[in-house]
Amino acid sequence: MPNAPELHPTLRPEIAPPPGVQDYVRPFSVGPVRVERPWVLAPMSGVTDSAFRRTVQSASTGGVGLLVTEFISVEGLTRKNMKSHMRMAFDPATEQPLSVQIFGADIQRMVDAAQMVEACGAQVVDINCGCPAPKVVRRGGGAELMRQCDRLGSMVEKIAAAVQVPVTVKIRSGWSEDSINAVAVAQRCEEAGAQMIAVHGRTRTQLYTGRADWLLVDEVARSVKVPVVGSGDICTPEEALWQLRNTAVAGIMIGRAAIMNPWIFGQIEDLVAGRPVREVSNAERVRVLRFYRDLEAQHVPEHAIPGRLKQFLARMTKGFAHGGLLREKAMRAHDTEEMFGWIDSFFAAADADCLEEWALQVRSGPEEHGTTAARSDSAAAGASIAAAY
Ligand SMILES: Cc1cc2nc3c(=O)[nH]c(=O)nc-3n(C[C@H](O)[C@H](O)[C@H](O)COP(=O)(O)O)c2cc1C
Repeated sequence: MPNAPELHPTLRPEIAPPPGVQDYVRPFSVGPVRVERPWVLAPMSGVTDSAFRRTVQSASTGGVGLLVTEFISVEGLTRKNMKSHMRMAFDPATEQPLSVQIFGADIQRMVDAAQMVEACGAQVVDINCGCPAPKVVRRGGGAELMRQCDRLGSMVEKIAAAVQVPVTVKIRSGWSEDSINAVAVAQRCEEAGAQMIAVHGRTRTQLYTGRADWLLVDEVARSVKVPVVGSGDICTPEEALWQLRNTAVAGIMIGRAAIMNPWIFGQIEDLVAGRPVREVSNAERVRVLRFYRDLEAQHVPEHAIPGRLKQFLARMTKGFAHGGLLREKAMRAHDTEEMFGWIDSFFAAADADCLEEWALQVRSGPEEHGTTAARSDSAAAGASIAAAY
């Protein structure tokens, strides 16, 4: 396929399932909730709203075992903040099983918010102990809970006693390099009643730098009886399978790679089944972006959609020649139709193998209007493809 990002060198169609794959690719249970496939969509603030989760499910048909919301403030929930309540919204017919992640420091508010999560019909309530944002940790929530293990233990105990749904926690390796305590924190949470632990193998001070420490993730998984889900730097279907096979985790969580490649969970399933790994056409990329935009439009005011779409587009076009120029143009678009003018013409030109001409034309054309400026003569060969999207 012209102008598509290179596939990982080992991402080659297989003709048979990897040997023994059924022994390690298995369902697992979070208390009474059965997770059919061991692949979990990571919680991502500003990203994993209902529209995004459903888009990933649609692109990865049947591959996502557990969905997690973006984190939701318990202050917002318990003070009836509209935005926080909107973040809890989901489609019960398709988003199953769903875990709603909450963050905060006040134990009573955490308990109250967990009861709201249960009442809204989610199957799991997850406690965020990994958020590194200063405004969250300063108030005693997120990764700060890694430094307050006993307090976290009491919090889990109280929440677990107050709701019927299973309570889970998502932690980091520790606060900093010299205070790695994920094993102790996981054990305390298990003792307090947590039914699953997700571990992002980085410390709070690392933020997103360096590499996730999967040796530590493995150690955590071996130190507790409840299922542990590993998170950090899984970029390809092969990496997901490799970590599942070579560590004691019950599941693999994927975050940023699912923004870049929402088909990734389906591609893992292709590998597991021994099918050729699905290749993603440019038409499919545009279809998925439109699908997402249409879902967002059902819940989010028009003015808020471009921001979310830009984020999605920015990751999805990483690695494409002139993807930066598309992002620059799309970022400046005034509404989503204008954005799709740029998106359509870009992918049409990519299909017609004339991105160089597209870029030249765009650079020399008028600034503001994607639909007219970007549909260059040189990209006209691709325009008919765009019309079919
Ligand atoms: C944009 C963004 C937002 C995130 N928001 C959350 C969040 O709300 N709650 C949480 O527990 N982790 C959050 N994370 C961390 C991810 O869940 C995940 O643990 C981390 O990105 C590492 O996994 P990855 O390499 O697959 O992205 C966020 C990560 C990103 C990139």
